[in-house]
Amino acid sequence: MKKEIKKIKKKRVILNQIKSSFPAKSINESLSRMIAASLVCQLDPTIDELADIKTAVSEAVTNCIVHGYGNNYKSISSVNKSGGEINLYACYYDDNSIKIIIKDKGKGIEDVKKAMQPLYTTDESGERSGMGFSIMQSFMDKIRVISNPGKGTTVIFEKKISRPV
Ligand SMILES: Nc1ncnc2c1ncn2[C@@H]1O[C@H](COP(=O)(O)OP(=O)(O)O)[C@@H](O)[C@H]1O
Ligand SMILES: [Mg+2]
Repeated sequence: MKKEIKKIKKKRVILNQIKSSFPAKSINESLSRMIAASLVCQLDPTIDELADIKTAVSEAVTNCIVHGYGNNYKSISSVNKSGGEINLYACYYDDNSIKIIIKDKGKGIEDVKKAMQPLYTTDESGERSGMGFSIMQSFMDKIRVISNPGKGTTVIFEKKISRPV
């Protein structure tokens, strides 16, 4: 029965996508936002939808830079050899939904459930609020976080864009 329902449910088709990678430098937070926004704009989102997506991407990329790689970016050659790189993938489907994947190969998260709780932060500088994941959750329809300590973290977002009336 489950198989039959699956068959009836139409599979989404990817209409466009972009794959990018860049060094984990704070200047690339805005770059990543613009990359995702440029693709999503092809769906003619509302200003609010676009703002939500840009904010969620910023939060996830900032986490890669600050937590994943510990703000430790050194040089392009070190990125090429041993990490310090962030991957951003974005696509949209024929049902007007988008998917964004942000990945680092940094230190990873021991307890993802705990890390996603509001106000939880491991930052000791007092600069972080511990609200990054909560913001991502409230601005996107779906968020999935996969992390392996010592290996890195992947954040996957999904959101449906409303069609213009
Ligand atoms: N990419 C990542 N790599 C390693 N740890 C992460 C990553 N993203 C989040 N974390 C962990 O999850 C915690 C919560 O993240 P977040 O909700 O964005 O709050 P904040 O960034 O303000 O600490 C972080 O303090 C950090 O310990
Ligand atoms: Mg954060």
